[in-house]
This record gives sequence, C-alpha cells and structure tokens, in this order.
Amino acid sequence: MAEFTLPANSKVKVGNTHKAPEGAGNARAFKVYRYDPDKAENPRLDTYEIDLDECGPMVLDALIKIKNEVDTTLTFRRSCREGICGSCSMNIDGTNTLACLKPIDEVKGDVKIYPLPHMEVIKDLVPDLSTAYAQLAAVEPWLKSNTPPPLDEERRQSVEEREKLDGLWECVLCFSCSTSCPSYWWNGERYLGPAVLLQAYRWIADSRDEYTGERLDSLEDPFRLYRCHTIMNCTKTCPKGLNPAKAIAEIKKMMVMRR
Ligand code: SF4
Ligand code: FES
Repeated sequence: MAEFTLPANSKVKVGNTHKAPEGAGNARAFKVYRYDPDKAENPRLDTYEIDLDECGPMVLDALIKIKNEVDTTLTFRRSCREGICGSCSMNIDGTNTLACLKPIDEVKGDVKIYPLPHMEVIKDLVPDLSTAYAQLAAVEPWLKSNTPPPLDEERRQSVEEREKLDGLWECVLCFSCSTSCPSYWWNGERYLGPAVLLQAYRWIADSRDEYTGERLDSLEDPFRLYRCHTIMNCTKTCPKGLNPAKAIAEIKKMMVMRR
C-alpha cells in the first residue's frame, strides 16, 4: 500500500501500523486518530489494514472489528448501529457523519478517521460534548405548557400542525452539524450552533407549546442565534438529511415578524 504522509507541520505523528492478516484478499487501510490524555504525547495516526472480505460494510463495522480483533485500546462511542442514537459521529474522509451509516466503499483509498473537529478530545475518537449538552439543556427541549392536558387524552394536534415538526424530530443529536460550522468553531461557548438551534426550533414550532415568546426572547442575542452566517456546512453534512440552516432561518424570521 502507498505510504501515507502527514503535512510537515502537523502535530499529529505517524503511529503504529497493524498489517492485514496473512492471505487477506481485499485489504484496506484505516488511518485512525489516536490520543490518550494520560500519556504526555502528541496525537498519532495509527494504520489498521483490514480484510474487507471479512468485515461488515460500514465504517463502524471496521472500527468494531479493529477493537475486537486487533487493538482493544481503540476508543469510540457507538450504540445502536443504525443511525438512531447519534453516538458514533466522527470525521470520516473529511466529512462529519455517523460511522454506522457511512459505507466503506464510498471512500476512495485509505479511510481516514478523526474525532469531530474543534472539540476537546477525551480519548481517540471521543470528543467532549459537555458544552454542547449544556447548551441543549439551556433551550429547555421539552414541552412547556400551563394548560393541563385534557382528561384521559393526549394533547392533540391537527395533521398540519404535526407536519411542521417533520424534518426536526428526526434529529439524533450527533452534533455533526455544529462541529462542521466555522461560526461554532470560533464562538462555540456563546453561539448555540445548528444542532441546538434546530432543537430550539423543534419546540418553538410545536403547536402544543405555550412558551414561544419566552423561547424567542432567550435566543434574542447577538451570539446565541445571530452568529449563524448561513454558511450551510450544517445542512451539507447532516447524516440524517436534515436542514438545520432552514430551522435557524425560521427562528430569525419569527424574530422579525414579532417586532
Ligand atoms: S441536525 Fe443532523 S447533523 Fe445536526 S445534530 Fe441533528 S442529526 Fe446530527
Ligand atoms: S451507533 Fe447509533 S447512530 Fe451510529
């Protein structure tokens, strides 16, 4: 296989190579970011040569195979393996996505895998999402209403009211969008980012919620909402095909309409 080189000024070093097993008929190299905060070392890129004839079709299948059969120290998050839990988000072949939804054969050449960009790394492919989750909690992503629900019934919506939530409820909170956004990279402590703003809009748009005004008030801020400059990386990268940029635009429109 061709030798992989990193830029001369990279702080990431070339790491260990784990060769494909003897007789592997369909070997591919996976270049995986490794970082252990307990070791006083720069991050490195380890190479794992995997026989794709003995591996499932998705990048997550390869990572699980590596962890089970080659290197148990490799650390990454995953749970559902079907694009529902949002935990296996990472940067694959230069794009933030879910490893369980990313077919290996969509990647040409070596498969390069990094953690989500511009986040603190806890270990290997696991980013620290504490700030992102605190931001999510701040928008109170649950139904808020002072009116008690009807006796023995759910709170009802018309078909049209329910349809307004399509494209919002499907979000799996993987943060692929927020971590692809330059505004979030530079202002991540104060700008809420596309994932959290989509969640905020999911409740603003809900006909059963009675706190629309308060929700909009809390977003009326030069950083929390208005650091979105419609760069659109969020919508391009969303592995669930959602459009966080549109949700943000809808919030901005509501801000104007109520003035
Ligand atoms: S909008 Fe898409 S990319 Fe962003 S958190 Fe939700 S599912 Fe992930
Ligand atoms: S493992 Fe759940 S979304 Fe990938």
